[in-house]
Amino acid sequence: MKHRRSLSHVGGPIITAGARCEADGLAAALAVPPATDADNDPARSHVHGFHTYPARLHPLTAARLVKTFGQGGPILDPFCGSGTVLVEALIAGCASLGSDLNPLAVRLATGKTRLRSAAELEQLVACAQACALQADERRCAKAGASRRFPAADVALFEPHVLLELDSLRLGITACTPAVRSDLELVLSAILVKLSRKESDTTRRTSPRRLPGGYATQLFVAKTREFATRCTIFQRLLPPQRPPVTVLLDDATQLERLPDQPVAAIITSPPYAATYDYLAHHELRMRWLGLDPAPLARGEIGSRSTYARLAPAAARQRWRQELERFFQAATRLLKADAPLVVVMADSAVGSVALRADELIAEAGRASGWRLCAQASQARPHFHGPTLAAFRRRPRYEHAFVLRQGSSATVSPRH
Ligand SMILES: C[S@@+](CC[C@H](N)C(=O)[O-])C[C@H]1O[C@@H](n2cnc3c(N)ncnc32)[C@H](O)[C@@H]1O
Repeated sequence: MKHRRSLSHVGGPIITAGARCEADGLAAALAVPPATDADNDPARSHVHGFHTYPARLHPLTAARLVKTFGQGGPILDPFCGSGTVLVEALIAGCASLGSDLNPLAVRLATGKTRLRSAAELEQLVACAQACALQADERRCAKAGASRRFPAADVALFEPHVLLELDSLRLGITACTPAVRSDLELVLSAILVKLSRKESDTTRRTSPRRLPGGYATQLFVAKTREFATRCTIFQRLLPPQRPPVTVLLDDATQLERLPDQPVAAIITSPPYAATYDYLAHHELRMRWLGLDPAPLARGEIGSRSTYARLAPAAARQRWRQELERFFQAATRLLKADAPLVVVMADSAVGSVALRADELIAEAGRASGWRLCAQASQARPHFHGPTLAAFRRRPRYEHAFVLRQGSSATVSPRH
């Protein structure tokens, strides 16, 4: 794109191109100041901070994109992940639709956007306490396991932690569907902390010993935290709460979404070759009884798939996957409505997959024109792919596309 210029923001310089007003809107959305105070970090505010999720959109970015490009709604996010755009759409008073092929994402986005009365939240905490009491009783009575654990769980958890989790799950299963659904999310939020993993992706080198009863206490504390986060979030909502719907759907097909076109799509697809959502959430899906098969068949951009490809083949595959998304999105947007995409450059080995090039190419091939762009250089720490960003840094980009092929990149004056 021609006519580039730089804007300076706290988070680093941002290059913009295309229609000035829209490019400035994208730049403002990317210009999120680095967090200085962990307790007041907007990235972890109210329901946003309840559960980790890889490559979550920054809530300020989502909020600004909703405000600038949401057209008052309805807004669709077809890669909704943990539901950041949907939460911010609710706060902005816009109706929204979210979909994702990851069943954990669908549960999380649904759970974060569902409204609950104060009485329901009180009941939730009471149910968590009842589950914990039952788990403590089973622990003291040395009740043993309710079922045979898979080898993966035996390797991941200390035996007494596994037994406590088993008892908690027995209690959760007996709750009403709405409470059960919330308590399963609480369980999902604490699973890795209770395991021998250091984080979602690494294994602890030295064993950590958790005291008996710790898992149960953490479960109750996390339920209380969830209730508090929901209360704070719900206070931010307008009196007329807009509807929100979350579905399991493949963004390269989008067959399950209603036919009425939306006013804007605001989304962040996976970053090619960077994450494996299936592998990342396999433990949580197993504990929540979620079916991983659709994600196993249809996840796009997954690191394990791209690791097997030569750079040229990886680039071609990513372009095709983006094209399939663009084609699916076509029937869902009102004429001339914006499709806003946030995506970072990624790499296969020492070769960069430049999101701006690929989005422009895939868009053109599927009848979308790139109208505006903002790009911010971001540090890259991944050793094996460092060489890919030696000459030109890795950028986080935000794009606005519209249907049609005519060039609309306006010159700067
Ligand atoms: C970058 S994340 C989105 C994060 C989200 N914006 C948030 O703030 O939590 C990309 C998402 O794409 C999903 N995904 C991968 N392949 C998909 C497909 N074919 N259809 C729909 N979603 C897919 C992943 O499960 C993941 O949730």
